[in-house]
Amino acid sequence: MAALGGRGSAAAALLLRRPGPGLRPVPRRYRYKEKWAATAPRIPCTRLALHHFDMSYSLQLKDLWPSVRASLLCEQKYGALLNNFSADNYVTQELELMNATDFVSEGSKKAQQGAAAEEVARGESRLQEASGKVRTVMQTETMTQAETSLPLRASISSNIKCYTYPRGDITRFRPARQDCLGLLDYYLMDAASVLPVLALNVQRGDLVLDLCAAPGGKTLALLQTGLCGHLAANDVSISRTKRLYNILHSYVPKEIRETVSVTSYDGRDWEKLEGGTFHKVLVDVPCTTDRHSVMEEENNIFHKRRTKERQMLPMLQLQLLMAGILATKPGGEVVYSTCSLSSLQNECVIERAVDIAETQFNITVHVEDLSHFRTLFQDTFSFSDCRLGELVLPHLTANFGPMYFCKLRRV
Ligand SMILES: C[S@@+](CC[C@H](N)C(=O)[O-])C[C@H]1O[C@@H](n2cnc3c(N)ncnc32)[C@H](O)[C@@H]1O
Repeated sequence: MAALGGRGSAAAALLLRRPGPGLRPVPRRYRYKEKWAATAPRIPCTRLALHHFDMSYSLQLKDLWPSVRASLLCEQKYGALLNNFSADNYVTQELELMNATDFVSEGSKKAQQGAAAEEVARGESRLQEASGKVRTVMQTETMTQAETSLPLRASISSNIKCYTYPRGDITRFRPARQDCLGLLDYYLMDAASVLPVLALNVQRGDLVLDLCAAPGGKTLALLQTGLCGHLAANDVSISRTKRLYNILHSYVPKEIRETVSVTSYDGRDWEKLEGGTFHKVLVDVPCTTDRHSVMEEENNIFHKRRTKERQMLPMLQLQLLMAGILATKPGGEVVYSTCSLSSLQNECVIERAVDIAETQFNITVHVEDLSHFRTLFQDTFSFSDCRLGELVLPHLTANFGPMYFCKLRRV
């Protein structure tokens, strides 16, 4: 007995003790030794994420949080980004027969109607001015409207087509199909991911940098504009860059792929490589990927061993955005985006970057107004009020996002 020692000997003594009256010794086969788990039972990362979001987003979003929370926990809605390089001519017909619509062209139509109404209003106001009438408050309002909706026409003149089912319709798209050349007909993605690309408003011949590009949904959307003079697609992760290559090979013909350079640098060092050279820069940063974090255990940023990485995210995001600003030519534009609701990862990063650009680099950066996106795309997405930039909120009838995007212009 003494040889067993410690806890073992106490347990053995208990087991061998003579049973009291009416009690029989426990047969050996029913005896068990209590196991001491090496670690405490693990709380699933998804639960940790939800708890964290409950604490922060109930304060940030107030009454909206319960509905956003429910939407995050429900099946996400997809959009079908049409592949303009595919030779399949029937796909749009097929999608339209299924009652899907291209939300980009719907927005573009709205913008044109708005522009036509502006012209009429302007003509009338000129006539009234000519006849010597004093401008009324109403006229001033019309002018303000006209001025603010000027970007409407400019920004949505894109070749990007992204089909979605109407609000409340949760039909799923069939998987993508190859055409006769082996190119896939569409790419399924969160339709809200197209908005930062539209906000970038690529013009013919623009030199474009996609600083955090993998796996490549937004890179593909940028190429669909058919306007990039050159596209530099970078991502620090080599394994994710391979996924980007796969997308390019599955969707883009060789001659277009040759206009894309794929690299795997740390985006924070971009300035050392090519500072001030791009007309347009997309900075789609790593974030808490809120939808993924509450739904998937795998690769979850709320894993205990990734706590430090998660806490450092706003710093990494700020450094990447700064690198994006420095990579832009004077007059060029940067779009910053995340798929998180967190104001710490969204507006706060923008504010810090604008401040640092001014104080440390003597670069003035303007935050551009993107409120026309709400007007144009409110039938498809639910937007939330935001101090700076635009935020798509997940909604049970339009379960896209979260997607935050904000546009900066280097003056
Ligand atoms: C939100 S994802 C980008 C998604 C991509 N834009 C798309 O639409 O498919 C963020 C990416 O940033 C990359 N990343 C993280 N740190 C980076 C760094 N320091 N430099 C460049 N890329 C980085 C990650 O590997 C990840 O692929």
